[in-house]
Amino acid sequence: MRALLNDIESGDPGGLNMSLGEPQHEIPEFVAEILYQERASYHKYPPVAGTPDWQQAVGGWLERRFGLDEGMLGADHLVPLCGSREGLFAIGFVTIDRQKAGGVPLVLMPNPFYQPYAGAAIAANAEPFYVNAEAENGFLPDYEALPEEVLERTALCFICNPANPQGSFASLDYLKKAIRLARKYDFVLVGDECYSEIYDAEAPVGILQACMELVSAGEGDPENPFDHVVCFNSLSKRSNLAGLRSAFMAGDPVIAAECRRLRNYGGSPLPLPVDAASAAAWRDEEHVIANRALYRRKFDLAEKYLAGRFDFSRPSGGFCLWLRVGDGEQAARALWREAGIKVLPGAYLAREDRNGVNPGAGYIRLTLVHGEELLEPALAKIATIL
Ligand SMILES: Cc1ncc(COP(=O)(O)O)c(C=O)c1O
Repeated sequence: MRALLNDIESGDPGGLNMSLGEPQHEIPEFVAEILYQERASYHKYPPVAGTPDWQQAVGGWLERRFGLDEGMLGADHLVPLCGSREGLFAIGFVTIDRQKAGGVPLVLMPNPFYQPYAGAAIAANAEPFYVNAEAENGFLPDYEALPEEVLERTALCFICNPANPQGSFASLDYLKKAIRLARKYDFVLVGDECYSEIYDAEAPVGILQACMELVSAGEGDPENPFDHVVCFNSLSKRSNLAGLRSAFMAGDPVIAAECRRLRNYGGSPLPLPVDAASAAAWRDEEHVIANRALYRRKFDLAEKYLAGRFDFSRPSGGFCLWLRVGDGEQAARALWREAGIKVLPGAYLAREDRNGVNPGAGYIRLTLVHGEELLEPALAKIATIL
């Protein structure tokens, strides 16, 4: 981005940075209060597994949100994380062996993708395997269509739901098929669900929910319903707490135990005041409902200025717009030059596919993270300039 925009002066020094996924909304006040109330415990080394109160709050939230049986997600299934990024990266170390099916292991991911997925593969000496997520397939990678030899070598696979940057949802059917595939070919399936609480009309389903449905239908192991499967979620987007660094991984207890062991040696547990504040945030839905209402109003604004152009579609979830502008880099330069608005060229979120085509090249990604008063004039300028 820096190299792309370096030689251009910003058209408006007071412009807007719409290239980052960092919500600018207010944090819930009670979180700040709890951090302060609990400050005395900063002298203690916190537990890697989180406090029982944190475990109960997170397990309870997952159970309520995804219609799981009460009490089924306990300490064994959970790993506290300092933001989901570190866990999405580190999971490669505990799930990827040196070889799989006689070759270098593969890590499947959508293309475009959240960059730590590829980091997880490369750092664990595996190969990222990019599967295009384009408009024609509802922006969901078709893992089922991959050749047998690819699936046999797969050690780890990522699904981003809601999809970043396109905001589409995976259905229960899609998730169930992916779970079956993971079990058949013995790879770990990750549901990256950090945008799950920002949605428009309906809440997206989750990967643990799909596991439960399979077990209820007599498929899978009732003793370990989440066999081969984990999900990640975070307070960064749901509660506007990107700077708190508070997230979790949940699912298969065997994988969770390995992740906790890794963090025991080389990770950093959440400080006790953060455990307490996070537990309260997961228990509270009021601030999340208000946050969602605010995003809906911003989707309305986006629709007002962009509907019918650039293949705009109102996102089902998440807070990004994925606009087809022809040449993403050129559009990003124009917006910077003329209005000081920073957006991300879609190509930077993706890699060339096997035909040498970057599926993000024609797009830009905009994040709707600012308040309406800043967003509306920016959207009006974007529509005019593009
Ligand atoms: C798709 C996706 N997954 C995970 C994350 C990580 O968020 P955090 O580390 O704040 O939990 C982000 C952040 O932008 C993201 O866009």
